[in-house]
This record gives sequence, C-alpha cells and structure tokens, in this order.
Amino acid sequence: MKLRSMLFVPADSERKLDKALGSPADALILDLEDAVASSRKIEARNAAASFIATQANSLQSRLFVRINPLDSGMAMEDLAAVVVPGLAGIMLPKTNSASDVIRLGYCLDALEARAGMVAGSVRIVPVATETAPAMLNMQSFAGPVSRLVGITWGAEDLSAAIGAISNREEDGTLSPLYSLANSMCLCAAAATGTAAIDTLYADFRDNAGLAASCRISRRRGFRGRIAIHPDQVVTINEAFSPSEVELVHARRIVDAFAAQPDVGTLSIDGVMVDKPHLTQALRTLGLSGSCKPTEQ
Ligand code: COA
Ligand code: MG
Repeated sequence: MKLRSMLFVPADSERKLDKALGSPADALILDLEDAVASSRKIEARNAAASFIATQANSLQSRLFVRINPLDSGMAMEDLAAVVVPGLAGIMLPKTNSASDVIRLGYCLDALEARAGMVAGSVRIVPVATETAPAMLNMQSFAGPVSRLVGITWGAEDLSAAIGAISNREEDGTLSPLYSLANSMCLCAAAATGTAAIDTLYADFRDNAGLAASCRISRRRGFRGRIAIHPDQVVTINEAFSPSEVELVHARRIVDAFAAQPDVGTLSIDGVMVDKPHLTQALRTLGLSGSCKPTEQ
C-alpha cells in the first residue's frame, strides 16, 4: 500500500469531499474525529459511508476513515457505518497501546464478514502518541501487529493530555516529550515492519517550509506524511519519493553486491559499503515508482 501522503478530509464537508476526489494523495482520511464538531458527528459518519460506497471503484485502496476513539462511545457506530466495500483502512486516534489495534481488528473481522469483504482487507494506522498511557506503552509495538500498515504520531493531543501550555520550547523547537514521540513512532514502525507516517505541518500556506521539514523527516526514516490541505500533497509526494541521484546510487550498490556475491563489504567511490547500505539501497529501489512503504 502506497502511503507517502495521507490527506485529512473533514467528512461533514461536501465541498472538501468533492475537492478530495481530484487529489493525488496516496490515501484520503475521511475524518469523523477532531475536525468534526460534536453536533455534526452523525452527518459526518453518514457522509463518509456514502462517499466510500460511491467512490469504491475510483478510489480503490485509498480510502481511510479516522473514527472516533475506542472509548468515545461513538467508535462502534462509526465502524458499523463505514466498513463497506471500498474501505481500505481505519485510522485509530488516541490509541493507548497495540492491544487497542488488536481489539479494533476483532471488530473489523466481524464487520468485514457482514459486508462480504475479504477477511483482513481493512488495514489500520494508529495515531500512537496522543495520550500519556500511549507513550508509556509504546513497547507494545515491538513486533508485528495484525492489519497494521503504518503508524503515525501527534503532538497536539498529547500536550493537551499532559496539560502543557505548548509542545514547543521558547525557541520554537519541539519539547523533549514530543521529540521522543516522533522517535518512538519511527522505532514502532520499524519494529512492526510498517511505514512511519510523520505528523501534520500546520502552516498549510508555507510549501517551502513543508518541503524542508519533509526532507528532514525522510532522512530520519519517515516514509510519508499527513496532509491537512490539498495544496500540501504534491510537495509531500515529491519529498517522500527517491530522487534520480538516490536511485542511481542505490542501483550501483545493488549491482556491486550482485557482481561479487561472496563479498560482505566493498568500496564505491572510495567509501566503504556493507550490509546496512545494501538494505537501504534495496529499500530505495523498492520505494521508486510504487513507493511501497515497506516490506509487509
Ligand atoms: N480536503 C479537501 N479539500 C480541502 C481541504 C481538505 N483537507 N482543505 C481545504 N480544501 C478545499 C476547500 O474547500 C477549498 O475548496 P472550495 O474553494 O471548492 O471550497 C479549497 O480547498 C481551498 O481551501 P482554502 O480556502 O485554502 O482553505 P480553507 O480555509 O477552506 O480550509 C482548513 C483550511 C485548515 C480548515 C482545511 O484545510 C481543513 O479542513 N483541513 C483539514 C483539517 C482536518 O481534517 N484536521 C484533522 C486532522 S489534524
Ligand atoms: Mg486530535
């Protein structure tokens, strides 16, 4: 599943749903949670369900829904409405640990059967750092978790949960807790063999800033990023695709090892290259074109 860019679309907005249809985002996340006012939850749920039913063919494997949290009293009704053919995945907010993902998976088992969908076809992307217990339980993502396809993180809800005035220091850099959340997201994704999806870039008019931030994020190991505005999507897609120079270099590494299968370490342009470089090169080549987030 391609997950370079995941565009949030508030599901109660017909205009935004329409606009999203033309977006080159790898995935759309129809939001039922924080972008929707309490008074509009039911409209949003119904609109998401009919959008999926109508667009099942045109947007195949690209439609996610962010349901309300498992303990909100709304999650089961959200799921009952949106698990219909055409749904590719659920984004689970306020996830407290991998056991929440497993519990959601059991619900999906039943709902897929009811909808005549392939068992296990609905994938899950948790927002894994939005609560204090979630941070303490990140080790629960130390190995493969059924249905998981990616993991993302957020700094806004966590700071609200902690009671912090801001998630940034006075100089604008992320405070340590949120840097930790960012790093734990990378480790959890690697440990589960899924894609780390970076959190949103709020200033949606600043594409140069977004591009610079995505370059840092990709260097760190993120495979994709949340978008909150359609104008961010192309920048994100480009940032999370390997450049021509990277592809050529990766191909040289793979070819060099293929030419000398009994050699564990070799030199390219006077620089030592060994197993981790080969792993990275293979991943880069796997990323090209389809931008497959990871081997799953
Ligand atoms: N998805 C689809 N379409 C969107 C969109 C989105 N996330 N954000 C904006 N658009 C559409 C607008 O409807 C508008 O189209 P229109 O002229 O046909 O109405 C066009 O893109 C330009 O929008 P713009 O005027 O630049 O932005 P805005 O002021 O209308 O909206 C936000 C700004 C931040 C409110 C909006 O981008 C948004 O709702 N983002 C998603 C928020 C969200 O889901 N948050 C939860 C996750 S953190
Ligand atoms: Mg939130």
